[in-house]
Amino acid sequence: MAIPTSRTKDKAEIRINYEKCTVCGSCVNVCKDFSLKIVNQKVVVSDTPCFGCIACGHCMAVCPSDAIEIHGRMLSPDNMFVLPDIEKSTDYDELLALLQCRRSIREFKDKPVSEELINKILEAAKTAPMGLPPSDVNVLVLDSKEKVQGFATDYCNFLKRMKWLVSDWFIALMRPFWGKPMDEMFKGFVRPLFDIYLGNMDKGINLVNYDAPLAMYFYGSPYTDPADPIVAATYAMIAAESLGLGTCMLGGVHPLIQSGKKAKKFREQQGIKFASREGLFVIFGYSNVKYLKGIHRNFASVEAIPIHSV
Ligand SMILES: Cc1cc2nc3c(=O)[nH]c(=O)nc-3n(C[C@H](O)[C@H](O)[C@H](O)COP(=O)(O)O)c2cc1C
Ligand code: SF4
Ligand code: SF4
Repeated sequence: MAIPTSRTKDKAEIRINYEKCTVCGSCVNVCKDFSLKIVNQKVVVSDTPCFGCIACGHCMAVCPSDAIEIHGRMLSPDNMFVLPDIEKSTDYDELLALLQCRRSIREFKDKPVSEELINKILEAAKTAPMGLPPSDVNVLVLDSKEKVQGFATDYCNFLKRMKWLVSDWFIALMRPFWGKPMDEMFKGFVRPLFDIYLGNMDKGINLVNYDAPLAMYFYGSPYTDPADPIVAATYAMIAAESLGLGTCMLGGVHPLIQSGKKAKKFREQQGIKFASREGLFVIFGYSNVKYLKGIHRNFASVEAIPIHSV
C-alpha cells in the first residue's frame, strides 16, 4: 500500500520510454520519493523508494524529452500543460497591491456571481499545494444567495440542538481535558457566538454567512493534511479578489459540525462528505463597502533564529 488518501491508496505506475530518454538525470534529481535512479546509464524505477510514487508529477514536468509517464493516483500525461508565459504574470508590486486592498467583506450587493467566475476561482484554487497528491480537499459550492441563506438557517437550527455544548456544566466538565486556552475560548467566544448567530437569525439577520451570493466550504477527509483545505481556501480568496470580488473567510461553522451524531446528520443533509480536522468557509460577492484606507498588520512574532554552532 502507498500513502493513503480518500481518493486512492495505490502508488502510481512509472513508465519510461527508453527511445526518447537521453539520461539527462533531471527526473532523478527532482524525485524526492527516490523512486528513480540511474543504473548503468539507464533510468530505472528504484525498488527502495521512500513511499512509492506519489504522483507529484515533477518528473514529467521537468523531462525535456517527454520520456517519462506517470499513471495512477489521479495523474496521467493528459494532466500536463504548457506553462503560461511567466513574464506576463503578476509581479510583486501588483500582487502586494491586491493583497493590501483586500478587506473582509460582509456587505454584498444583491448581484449573483456568474458561473464563469465561480469556475475561475476553482481553477485557481486547484493549483494550491497540498500535503500529498492527489488533493484530498473537497469543496461544497453554494452558488446563490438562496442556497447560502438556506445553509445559514439550517446551521442555526442545528446549533439550537447543540446548545449543551456551551452550557456551564459541559464547559466545567471539559476544563481539565482541554485546558485553559480552550476554556477561555468557549466562555469568551464560542458561547457568545451561539447567542449572536441564533439571536440575530431570529430577527432575520444572518451573521453566519451574511447572505452572500456565493459561498464555498473547503474541507478534507480523515486522511487530509489539516492545512490543505485552508491553503486551497486562501488561493480561492486571492483569485476572487483578482476578479473584483469581495471575500470573507468564516471560521464559525467547521469546528462545530465535526463531532457527534447530530453533526453527522447535518453534514449529510448539506452534502458534506466527510468530517475533517480542518475546514474553512469563504464567502464571495460584490462589495457594498468601499474602504478608503489599508490597515498595517503584524505577526505575533517574527524572529530570526541565531546560527547554530556545531
Ligand atoms: C480563519 C478565519 C476565520 C474567520 N472567521 C470569520 C467569521 O466566522 N465571521 C466573520 O465575520 N469574519 C471571519 N473572519 C474574518 C476576520 O474577522 C478578519 O480577517 C479580521 O477581522 C481582519 O480583517 P481583514 O480580513 O479585513 O484584514 C475569519 C478570518 C479567518 C482568517
Ligand atoms: S511522480 Fe513524483 S514521486 Fe513519482 S516518480 Fe515522478 S517525481 Fe517521483
Ligand atoms: S528527465 Fe526524461 S530524458 Fe531526462 S533522464 Fe528522466 S526520463 Fe530521461
